[in-house]
Amino acid sequence: MKKNKVLVTGGAGFIGGNFVQYMLDKYSDYYIFNLDLLTYAGDITKHHSYKENENYHFIKADIADRETIMTIFEKEKFDYVVHFAAESHVDRSISDPGIFVKTNVLGTQVLLDASKEIGVSKFVHVSTDEVYGDLDFDPTTFFTEKTPLQPNSPYSASKASSDLLVRAYHETYGLPVNITRCSNNYGPYHFPEKLIPLTISRVINDQKVPVYGDGRNIRDWLHVIDHCAAIDLVMHEGVNGEVYNVGGHNERTNLEVVKTVIKTLGKSEELIEFVKDRLGHDKRYAIDPTKLENLGWKPKYNFETGIAQTIQWYLDNKEWWDQIISGEYQNYFEKQYSI
Ligand code: NAD
Ligand code: TYD
Repeated sequence: MKKNKVLVTGGAGFIGGNFVQYMLDKYSDYYIFNLDLLTYAGDITKHHSYKENENYHFIKADIADRETIMTIFEKEKFDYVVHFAAESHVDRSISDPGIFVKTNVLGTQVLLDASKEIGVSKFVHVSTDEVYGDLDFDPTTFFTEKTPLQPNSPYSASKASSDLLVRAYHETYGLPVNITRCSNNYGPYHFPEKLIPLTISRVINDQKVPVYGDGRNIRDWLHVIDHCAAIDLVMHEGVNGEVYNVGGHNERTNLEVVKTVIKTLGKSEELIEFVKDRLGHDKRYAIDPTKLENLGWKPKYNFETGIAQTIQWYLDNKEWWDQIISGEYQNYFEKQYSI
């Protein structure tokens, strides 16, 4: 029987890498192609077991390089595209927005053209709840798929722009697409520039944890494996052209998150250091996942079980994140923070 070919872009990153592992574990009848440029955020030397799997293939390429991408698509004739590759860190988008437009907007358009050219069965665009802007602190308000797009950061503006292109390729050319908009993820292999892995790694090392502003901003946290399961479901069952929000109702203030990590690791709250606020800092994100639940999705983790598993993973895999924080990351950290 012919095996379907699934192209995963950004499979050397945090969520894409977990998704590659998830798919190889679940399906033996798919070839999984991981296409990644290996930017600072991409790492294929990770301890993922899939490197030896005969269904796994790696391609090093830039999604914004039209000629190369067209050649790869013509050669491999992928059945599915699941598109994660992006510049993903809000703080970096504030200091250098240009690369976000190139990768997230132009790169997505190149992939859409290539997908249209060969006629893929599905293009899943992995987006973010940040395209909706932010909510106030009223706990009864949530982002739904009908919430207007009002991105506030260069990162979320670039993701919203790519969402609009994906939608347009469906409306104009009939490309079979879905867009998923997930809340903040956490879990294994999360790059330590983001709040949760940054906090865990610094607390383990008894270093100060920088909390922006007053720490009252709220994020809605989802374990990465629950996000992978959602994408798998949408890829197979999603109605073409539809958007699906992904979130598990795990809203926490940043201060609550940091204090939970400190408590679990048995350290002192004196490690918390309030630092100057992020520019344009979104107040609150919170997802209404009803539409996805109606498709059959249910998360396995809540915040308590997920954060305990994640902290344990960082304790067990210090080698992986040590190697990151001792490299080029040091320069980023010193430039970004003055503590
Ligand atoms: P990440 O930064 O960990 O990984 C991004 C990957 O994309 C890296 O492996 C990098 O090398 C690759 N990449 C970057 N530019 C590329 C290019 N030009 N060509 C090919 N590959 C390139 O990101 P992540 O946190 O895993 O996020 C993945 C996707 O999920 C992104 O599209 C992001 O917007 C979305 N998302 C993330 C979250 C979150 O909480 N992290 C939540 C919702 C949605
Ligand atoms: P982050 O992990 O960067 O995700 P996003 O900005 O995409 O939501 O940040 C999560 C929250 O944590 C956000 O409100 C900003 C805050 N934060 C800090 O307080 N200190 C930090 O050092 C970082 C990186 C983030």
